[in-house]
Amino acid sequence: MDTKIVILDVNNIAQDTINEAGIVIKEGGLVAFPTETVYGLGANALDKTAVEKIFKAKGRPQDNPLIVHVANRNIETLVKEVPDIAREIMSKYWPGPITLIFNKSDLIPSTTSAGLDTVGIRMPSSVIARRLIEAAGTPIAAPSANISGRPSPTEVESCIEDLSGKIEYILGGEKSQIGIESTIVDCTCTPLCILRPGAITIEMLREIDDNIYIDKNVMSKPKKDFKPKAPGMKYRHYAPKSPVKIICGDIEKTIAKINEIVQTNMGNKKIGIIATDETKDKYPFGTVVSLGNRKQLETVGRNLFEVLRSFDAIDVDLILSEAFEEKGLGYAIMNRLKKSAGFDITYV
Ligand code: TXA
Ligand code: MG
Repeated sequence: MDTKIVILDVNNIAQDTINEAGIVIKEGGLVAFPTETVYGLGANALDKTAVEKIFKAKGRPQDNPLIVHVANRNIETLVKEVPDIAREIMSKYWPGPITLIFNKSDLIPSTTSAGLDTVGIRMPSSVIARRLIEAAGTPIAAPSANISGRPSPTEVESCIEDLSGKIEYILGGEKSQIGIESTIVDCTCTPLCILRPGAITIEMLREIDDNIYIDKNVMSKPKKDFKPKAPGMKYRHYAPKSPVKIICGDIEKTIAKINEIVQTNMGNKKIGIIATDETKDKYPFGTVVSLGNRKQLETVGRNLFEVLRSFDAIDVDLILSEAFEEKGLGYAIMNRLKKSAGFDITYV
């Protein structure tokens, strides 16, 4: 399939291009598009045949439901009810990087919800994303625009790498501001439950529901036959081609441990190191890439997936990564890092 690729100027968004991509969605095709979290791979959420194409293009397991993206807060036709507490979250954090789970209405095909009675809905803050939804005239189902299992794309080049030739249209825009997928909150239960951590943190959500908690499976290695509430959590995820190992603890001890592993393996392995601005000069060997300043977790989050992807291009045998404190945005960053490492963590 020929994929049309158009890069928008974010300061002067061409409505013609948005309309053209909107028609592709309307007619049952697939469009990759930017959002503030990561790039999404969109189809008409209400069209079963269109949604099936997403699963095929990504190689996505059939039991993993899709998030439905909307351009405004009028979601009544898509869900059975909107609890008051969900309304509060919507008025505070929509548009933005948070997905809410509701009981779904019959308008949502079971292909979109992967057979569940619930649906995740998100109103992105990305202007391009919202204008595309408006132009399509329908809610857009969109998982991250990567081949299943790989790190999510936060730049158009990564979408092109994964999906060119497999979908009708790739709409480029700016690099995703946040770089980590949305927080997912189950609003069908009391108290509310976080199924995936993201940029809207538990500390922020506790201002609305002080009993909100994080599903206990979020930060642990999925066991065999494990059925998490967010089906996607059981798959190996965010993973570059080579294995990732996290070294966690005091930063000086971390540096020493990473250097020790590099030196022990130097003869036979090409090793990549995920460092930070503060530490990157302390690794004399290996291919060192910095995620940014440790004190600016926003930057670390924004760079994480592209740094993981960058090691694929240079074909390393092993990636060693520093760790971050699991507080605020650091919790979501560590969640993605741990998953990319298949929970291979060495504590020092
Ligand atoms: O930031 C984001 O959420 C991005 C952008 C494109 O909006 N999308 C995204 O989609 O990350 P995806 O498909 O890569 O991840 C969706 C996650 C999966 O883990 C899935 O299992 C979970 O959301 N999910 C979707 N619908 C659900 C539902 N009804 N109940 C529980 N989990 C659900
Ligand atoms: Mg994904």
